[in-house]
Amino acid sequence: MICNYSLNKLNTFNIKNNAIKIIKVKNLKQLCQIWKKYKKKKLPCLILGKGSNVLFLNNFYGLVVINKIKGIHINESSKYWNLHINSGENWHKLVKNTIKNKIYGLENLALIPGSVGSAPIQNIGAYGSSIKDFCQYVDIINPINQKIQRINKKKCKFKYRDSIFKHDDYKNHIIISIGLSLSKKWIPNLNYKDLKKLRTNVNITPQQIFNYICNIRKKKIPNPKIYGNAGSFFKNPFISSKLGLKLLKIYPQIPIFIENNKLKLSAGWLINQCKFKGYIQNGVMVHSKQALIILNKSNNATGMDILKLAIKIYNTVGIKFDIWLEPEVKIINSYGEVNPSFFFKKIKN
Ligand code: FAD
Ligand code: EPU
Repeated sequence: MICNYSLNKLNTFNIKNNAIKIIKVKNLKQLCQIWKKYKKKKLPCLILGKGSNVLFLNNFYGLVVINKIKGIHINESSKYWNLHINSGENWHKLVKNTIKNKIYGLENLALIPGSVGSAPIQNIGAYGSSIKDFCQYVDIINPINQKIQRINKKKCKFKYRDSIFKHDDYKNHIIISIGLSLSKKWIPNLNYKDLKKLRTNVNITPQQIFNYICNIRKKKIPNPKIYGNAGSFFKNPFISSKLGLKLLKIYPQIPIFIENNKLKLSAGWLINQCKFKGYIQNGVMVHSKQALIILNKSNNATGMDILKLAIKIYNTVGIKFDIWLEPEVKIINSYGEVNPSFFFKKIKN
């Protein structure tokens, strides 16, 4: 079969691979029809929002569906704004528009690229907030039998960069909409270290926090249209308190954070300690302002070039610290998502 539909503008790493077919869908009926048609032909199917968390290694020998299912419904109770949002909406636009309409709470999650439907999958988070703080439910569909299910917040099992939607039972489902509740009583969330400067302003507004966060983000993370990237390539690792104490003795400045009673380390710091900042290999670079971000600096690299540098980082950090990073980005080969353990293998000393 001919594989000549370009994925280049549909993934933020700007990888130049193709798919057999790419279709933008605007409603559920169209989505299910096309999905079933390609499944019948025994071809793999992949849904994408904005392609901001995927790494294509090869051409994709199947159907790629681009989610454009839009629509936002808002109702209110005495204490909350309740938003029902279809999955093809743009996350950042949603954040921007809620604030414009005096519905507050999402400002810390500004400028995260992607669609609304992908947001619960890894429980998107930034600047001390994550979608789990607002999400009440996620609606999913099985595109083969068209069965729709509502998964309530508890069943979503949101954790740091994780939810039930990343795991096997739900991998064949498509997220069609989500429900968010935003309190009418707005309290600024300024706990994150980088927001310290704002704490002295007792009259701070959501718009000011939004603007401030957009500015920091623009300084730290290159616009993927200029240098392809997918944000953080790896997750920040949780470590045991024993290892934390050991590392603190050797590196008193080490950035260790406490999250849900567990110790979380900055992966960017670990990568930086291995002298990777600014390191370049085959047109792929470790960002000099944020070591967690891998850039397609030449915008000509292949997915394999990016993966090779990521594996080098993984091995170097692992050997130096005995901490084995976990990729955040989803790796896609010709037939679908690949388990990262296939490429990232712990080296035994
Ligand atoms: P895609 O890359 O299109 O898809 C990701 C995965 O989800 C794929 O496996 C896809 O098949 C699946 N998928 C997509 N839509 C659906 C659906 N409707 N139903 C079921 N499965 C689906 N993330 C953060 O958490 N915090 C950040 O601060 C952050 N900053 C970033 C900055 C930059 C510059 C970039 C490029 C990325 C950043 N990310 C961040 C990662 C990314 O924005 C999020 O993971 C986002 O939710 C991905 O959305 P997407 O629509 O682009 O997903
Ligand atoms: N740090 C370094 N060197 C680096 C990067 C970070 O030493 O190169 C240390 C510094 O001490 C810094 C601390 O780590 O103060 C935290 O850095 P930053 O605020 O940049 O956050 P991060 O932990 O590196 C996480 C998310 C980002 C999110 C930011 C802001 C992950 C994997 N990444 O990065 O999310 O935007 O916090 O909240 O959790 C993404 O997931 O794609 C993403 C960009």
